[in-house]
Amino acid sequence: MALWGGRFSKDPDQLVLEYDACIGMGERMAQQDILGSLAHARMLGEQGIIPKEDAEAIVRGLEGILSDVRAGKITWSVDAEDIHMNVETLLTERIGEAGKRLHTGRSRNDQVALDNHMIAMDQCKQTVSLLKGLISLLLETAREHLNTAMPGYTHLQHAQPVTLAHHLMAYVEMFLRDARRFNFTCEMADEMPLGSGALAATTYPLNRERVAELLGFSAITENSLDGVSSRDYFLDYIYAASCCMMHLSRFCEELVLWNSSEFRFVEMDDAFATGSSIMPQKKNPDIAELMRGKTGRVYGDLVALLTVMKGLPLAYNKDMQEDKERFWDAADTLNRSLEVFSAMFASMTFRTDVMRRSALDGFANATDCADYLVRRGVAFRDAHRIVGELVAYCLDAGKTLEELTPEEYRRFDPAFGEDVYGAISLETCVGARSIPGGPAPQAVAAAIASAEKKLAAL
Ligand code: ARG
Repeated sequence: MALWGGRFSKDPDQLVLEYDACIGMGERMAQQDILGSLAHARMLGEQGIIPKEDAEAIVRGLEGILSDVRAGKITWSVDAEDIHMNVETLLTERIGEAGKRLHTGRSRNDQVALDNHMIAMDQCKQTVSLLKGLISLLLETAREHLNTAMPGYTHLQHAQPVTLAHHLMAYVEMFLRDARRFNFTCEMADEMPLGSGALAATTYPLNRERVAELLGFSAITENSLDGVSSRDYFLDYIYAASCCMMHLSRFCEELVLWNSSEFRFVEMDDAFATGSSIMPQKKNPDIAELMRGKTGRVYGDLVALLTVMKGLPLAYNKDMQEDKERFWDAADTLNRSLEVFSAMFASMTFRTDVMRRSALDGFANATDCADYLVRRGVAFRDAHRIVGELVAYCLDAGKTLEELTPEEYRRFDPAFGEDVYGAISLETCVGARSIPGGPAPQAVAAAIASAEKKLAAL
């Protein structure tokens, strides 16, 4: 008979048991569930709500179950529906009557909320630690490439030259923000919901602050209805995960492009590429592509859980049991992606010579050429048109701006002097963009120093 079977004249249909059970997902919260019960039982004993000896027996029993769970010795059963009732049933089997007092002043509704809060906080910490590893790796690579010129793009067209360090630091900024989002999500989840009961708290004199303290929470939830029916902390996590996957997917897309024969900016390590079953020459950047694809799945988790929660009346509704699969799918996908991305990135080779050649190509210095004329007194709008005409001329003549003769320059505007070549060289173009946030080596070095401080503060 189910733990709640008293008012029923029949056992649940087998179809119901299987459809309703969530022990598959519940297994992953077994440790949090037992830790929560340990704190609850200790508090019940301290408050004299249950006899001290019973509380002690429960604590010993739960500690035994916890160590068996950690040792992988326990198989949970679908018949007991969820992790909460599985643990309680096992406890009573092991310690007898005292086990039946554990659930005093508690409901599975606040119990699952507690487990969820703990899991969300654990996963935030796990994700932040993976992000920190990736950020350190990117910083290390950026430090080596302060002077590695490459084209910067808009519309995927050569725009203005930047450096590889500057490009990588853009991702460092994104991942630093992601890590802060997860830390904020952890802060938001840091409220202890036990004591909310099924929905309307309880008449027992529970010491909620004590439970919070035993479990390391900094606060308790302030409203029992909200305590059992909020899933914001999971949604916050999945949103942060979606954002982080979006950043990874942009990086992956660039690596796919950079690895193509058209770009050849990077060479994927053989260990992180796969071949074709028919085309012997192929070496495909599958891992980067797959990660781009998995981003869609995490977005799906976010929309799915938002939709589960949409329009639900207060307080607990069984719909909410769908939360765990979406949460774990997002957390597992993201954490694994961060791990794989870091390994893939660490094994890649950058072809700095190709990047430099490409930066010299495609008129990435045309803006600097116009700025040169401006310094010579020409209005920017006129300078823009003159250099546009120069570019059209170069395209016809099959030349770059650096290859034009002084006479050719002067044909377009008498303000051009011999010093134009210095003004449009790659080093000048990059080096002159030295304001904070710019690609000049000293500006990027400053950005790296600032990112290191932010990383240390995470
Ligand atoms: N297994 C449920 C969940 O994961 C918690 C139990 C509450 N169920 C209930 N019928 N009151 O959300």
